[in-house]
Amino acid sequence: MSSPVEAAIRGAVTKGIMGVAHFNRAHRKSSKQNPYLTGIHTPLTAEQTITDLKVTGTIPPALNGLYLRNGPNPFEAPNPATHHWFSGDGMLHGMRLQNGEALWYRNRWVRSTAINAALGEPATPGPKSSFESPNTNVVAFGGKIWALVEAGGLPVEVSDLLETRTRSDFEGLLSKGFAAHPHLDPLTGETHAICYNAMEPATIWHTVITADGAVRRHEPISVQDGPSIHDCMITKNYVIVMDLPVTFSMPALIAGDSFPYRWNPKHAARIGLLPREGRGDEIIWCSVEPCYIFHPANAFETDDGKVVMDACVHTDMFADGHFGPNTSSTAFESLEIDPVARRVTRTVIDASPQEFPRPDERRLGQPYRYAYTLALPAHGDPGFVGDPRLFKHDLGARTREVHDFGEGHMPGEFVFVPAHATAEEDEGWLIGYVADIARGTTDFVILDARNFAGPPVATITIPGRIPPGFHGNWVALP
Ligand SMILES: [Fe+2]
Repeated sequence: MSSPVEAAIRGAVTKGIMGVAHFNRAHRKSSKQNPYLTGIHTPLTAEQTITDLKVTGTIPPALNGLYLRNGPNPFEAPNPATHHWFSGDGMLHGMRLQNGEALWYRNRWVRSTAINAALGEPATPGPKSSFESPNTNVVAFGGKIWALVEAGGLPVEVSDLLETRTRSDFEGLLSKGFAAHPHLDPLTGETHAICYNAMEPATIWHTVITADGAVRRHEPISVQDGPSIHDCMITKNYVIVMDLPVTFSMPALIAGDSFPYRWNPKHAARIGLLPREGRGDEIIWCSVEPCYIFHPANAFETDDGKVVMDACVHTDMFADGHFGPNTSSTAFESLEIDPVARRVTRTVIDASPQEFPRPDERRLGQPYRYAYTLALPAHGDPGFVGDPRLFKHDLGARTREVHDFGEGHMPGEFVFVPAHATAEEDEGWLIGYVADIARGTTDFVILDARNFAGPPVATITIPGRIPPGFHGNWVALP
């Protein structure tokens, strides 16, 4: 900003735009039903703690800890015409296991100032934030558990009872927000993220947080058009930056869209390899056919200096409506990134639509063999999810196994938990929630990863519906 006068003018213009945007967000009308406020997605209206849980099978006694999953659940009913799945308040769903028993399930909203006020609670401490109820992920790093969102919202610390503790900007170092998908490097203990802020169209950041929870690096990288960069990946030498053609849309903001991002064919698709300790301008940009990636499974370097990243790749994104993600084709692909030719070569691993890929995260950034994904409905679904199957990819044998929960069941993302500290890759459990649509209940399911297609090891039934959400993680506790 070159002068205080210019800053004042820009501030007034921004205030005017935001005023129009807020008005339209509240008052725009639509004849279309919003699929993320109805049916299986209907938001819950209460918090519960349930200790009397029905268990079928045997909970592995070694699974001591807490499974937490985050997802959008608007506290106040939003305008259905402008509500986007990605913009609802965050609600955490937790399952606590100890010594082979299911101690409790509980759900809690991540407290925003508005939710605190509505519930008559003291305000959550910490700096103000553009989006105060992170709804996308919940991750333990730096010795604390954090609810996370992208595009500028601050991380919110929560307790192992799902209580909101504080918003944090990490001593001011992350004042422009953090990210929804930080990744712990199992070889260094540090956590890497690519961060962006909806109000900063020309800069993103590579952020590194130490095992002690301190921001060690916050390196700016120049971009154009305000790209939405949902996730990232690491390898031994690089951080992988996905600068793909979904960008901030001022017309969508002014029209009142609650997530103002759109497919932008004019934005060149590229994937960057940033040397892990390099300056932002040392990033090696490699061109790729236009596509969109929310989530890589993993990435690693090859002996000939290339980088391979496996990911769920969408043909496009936010091109056919403003309620949620596109329902058009998605495949599991391997992307070979060549830093010399500066080009990306895409190869389909599995053409079936699928999302939410997870590896055994002890292999993150390294050669690996197994990836676990959630099938998506073959011909799309207005509510995005709804296929009853999980996939397990053996990338060594080039095979795929299927776990089918059966018609009327709707799983979400499943997370791999190793059986013990020195377990081999794939030696452990896959855990996640599965909605039983007809009964209106939800199962917390534990699968043996090595008996993937077989019956669950244990099923814990929660007597209520948990709406589809985004990401979860296992937090080991005594
Ligand atoms: Fe995500």
